[in-house]
Amino acid sequence: MTAVLVAYAGKHGGTREIAEVIGDELRASGLTVEVRAAAEVDDVDGYGAVVLGSALYYSRWRPEAVRLLERNTDALRARPVWLFHSGPCGPDANLTRVSLPARVTLLAAAIDAERTETFGGRLDPATARGVAEKLMATGRRAGDFRDWDRIRAWARDVGRRVRSRVPI
Ligand SMILES: Cc1cc2nc3c(=O)[nH]c(=O)nc-3n(C[C@H](O)[C@H](O)[C@H](O)COP(=O)(O)O)c2cc1C
Repeated sequence: MTAVLVAYAGKHGGTREIAEVIGDELRASGLTVEVRAAAEVDDVDGYGAVVLGSALYYSRWRPEAVRLLERNTDALRARPVWLFHSGPCGPDANLTRVSLPARVTLLAAAIDAERTETFGGRLDPATARGVAEKLMATGRRAGDFRDWDRIRAWARDVGRRVRSRVPI
């Protein structure tokens, strides 16, 4: 059976947990799934479809997610690829759609990726490191804004599309 790779990159585990929930939904729809840190993915040869997500920091993707796209452009172009990022925090977190950073826009076009989804993120004052992170994790931005129903619904939709495009 063709496997789906769900790769993620983040700093504090919030994006990993989103990737794990996406993986659970894809498995529930009958697909074989591997959820892996983007930094540990050398190639995508064994996978029929790829989901890649990054946390947003200073409007950028994490370098390990960008590297996965850069190093596997040709192979990714030959497979269906879905991208997501997680970041917005605060009351409007799940009403916000963030554009891909410029470099990732080019790479997404090169691999003909599906439209990128934005998910709310999590800012936990308890795990914030350094002044910048502590400042970010204050006031109405502090908290967990990941909408699991929305994430699961998106994953189910991806699952349906994978099943219609990839022989399983
Ligand atoms: C220093 C810092 C900068 C951030 N910059 C952005 C940003 O530019 N855009 C955004 O939507 N979220 C931004 N965020 C929010 C993170 O993307 C959010 O906390 C995310 O859930 C982190 O995922 P992780 O736990 O996988 O690292 C920032 C957070 C911190 C601490």
